[in-house]
Amino acid sequence: MTITAEVVSQADEKIRRLESQLVREYGDVPPSLVHEWIERARARFGGARLQDYVPLFVAREVRASARAFPVEATEGTFLSTWARNTARRLLAAELPRRWAHTAGVARRAEHVARVLPEEERELLVAAAWVHDIGYAAEVGDTGLHSLDGARYLRRAGVPDRICGLVAHHSGAAAVAELVGLAGELGEFPDHRGRLRDALWYCDMSTGPDGHPTTVQGRLAEIRARRGPDDPVVRALAMNGDERLAAVRRTHRLLRRAS
Ligand SMILES: [Fe+2]
Repeated sequence: MTITAEVVSQADEKIRRLESQLVREYGDVPPSLVHEWIERARARFGGARLQDYVPLFVAREVRASARAFPVEATEGTFLSTWARNTARRLLAAELPRRWAHTAGVARRAEHVARVLPEEERELLVAAAWVHDIGYAAEVGDTGLHSLDGARYLRRAGVPDRICGLVAHHSGAAAVAELVGLAGELGEFPDHRGRLRDALWYCDMSTGPDGHPTTVQGRLAEIRARRGPDDPVVRALAMNGDERLAAVRRTHRLLRRAS
């Protein structure tokens, strides 16, 4: 064994021990997600010249992700508490990355809500929590997650305004058009305005792990993760400008309020 291989294998061993330690430390985070974070960080830093530092870099990266992971309950009224608990039940174990994204979108929504009229604040935060529940196996039906999520919410007796926000979030109409579900999506009203813009903004400025990102970064990530044939990516030709406009309008609102 060469020195280099030996050094790499020592770093590997340290990272395996680190993973067990972090799984114990962050008991509320699914171990599969800790593993995913470790692997991602390792892919990023594994080539470092000083292999001794690799476990330190990996640990720092994983701790940052764990801190952003939604484990602690936050204050909220009934609707957003229900929405948060429902999203957690449907997503946290089955789709931990989607759950981390959801929590990031909800954090963003809490921040943006302060520039909305009082009657819309709770609606935004609740919609942010449940906007992606249509990805959960229990909710999925047609394959169009915004439609499936909205139908689930309607069955649960959630106010129409939230069902509509979820149904049409982040350019869903163009995706529905491409997959032949425009009529079905039309079951839900699409109220244009500040509240709708704000939800799109929160979704478009939060990455897949829940970290804040720019809208350009988010669009590039969607393209890279899904590939050119995915209807969500193909729909960007139709809804890309609308997404950007919603983000711009919300930005302006935030700037005026600060
Ligand atoms: Fe989302």
